[in-house]
Amino acid sequence: MGGRLDGRTAIVTAAAGGIGGATVRRLAEDGARTIIAIDIAPAALSVVCSDAAHRGAEAHPVVLDCTDADAVRETLAEILVSRGPIDILVNLVGRSAQEKASEFWESEPETWRGVLDMCLTSAMLCSRQVVPQMRERQTGKIVNISSDIARRPDRGWVDYAAAKSGIIGFTRALAMELAPAGVNVNAVAPGTIATNAIAKMPPAMMDRMRASIPFGDVGAPEDVANCIAFLVSDDSRYITGQTIGINGGRTTT
Ligand SMILES: NC(=O)c1ccc[n+]([C@@H]2O[C@H](COP(=O)([O-])OP(=O)(O)OC[C@H]3O[C@@H](n4cnc5c(N)ncnc54)[C@H](O)[C@@H]3O)[C@@H](O)[C@H]2O)c1
Repeated sequence: MGGRLDGRTAIVTAAAGGIGGATVRRLAEDGARTIIAIDIAPAALSVVCSDAAHRGAEAHPVVLDCTDADAVRETLAEILVSRGPIDILVNLVGRSAQEKASEFWESEPETWRGVLDMCLTSAMLCSRQVVPQMRERQTGKIVNISSDIARRPDRGWVDYAAAKSGIIGFTRALAMELAPAGVNVNAVAPGTIATNAIAKMPPAMMDRMRASIPFGDVGAPEDVANCIAFLVSDDSRYITGQTIGINGGRTTT
């Protein structure tokens, strides 16, 4: 029986991470033929690629810092030549200020720039390289990653909320430009998902988080991957410019 992504070629960034790894595995299960898995962590990347290969995909690990404009331009140009046209781009690179997080009144511009580069500029850089051939071929699927924080902010996350809100605007505007070319652009906005990114959260903050989730617990990376797999398939044909919350009911707008 064929999968709904049979024969497709996909790029997934932050592919060695919790959500990225689950996405690569899910796209492979859905029949994607070629998956270019991009990350800065080579060891974790090779594990994810071997998982994808076990699921029948041809998976290529690419070590690339998606915030480095020159490197993204050169590497994605090479990928387009060597692997052919890209049907699917999943932009997952992003991170909060983590240990540098603070309330805005005492924050540093250098920290916001880092967060904006990671969350927003990385998605723009990768999309910029892939969009021209999607326009030309009149087909393609792009999925970006926002966050629940964009719609339900919390103290100490001003830069991350701004960057992830930027992803919602980027998604909407790019979707309008690319709709006439038959290219879908959507975003997912996860709530709290059990990956390394939240493993460092203090237990008291985790308890407060759980108590605020109607389903009573955090999500799994696969919950996000399942939604991404739908958005990059033909099943989402008539959906574009949308940001879908995956948050156990925590935010309903
Ligand atoms: N986990 C959550 O609760 C949650 C919630 C909302 C949104 N998100 C978003 O989901 C995305 C993935 O997060 P995750 O939870 O899977 O994190 P993760 O820490 O498990 O994985 C992140 C991956 O990104 C890679 N990476 C870091 N910098 C990079 C760069 N410059 N270029 C390429 N790769 C880079 C890391 O090596 C790592 O493999 C992020 O954009 C994050 O903001 C996560």
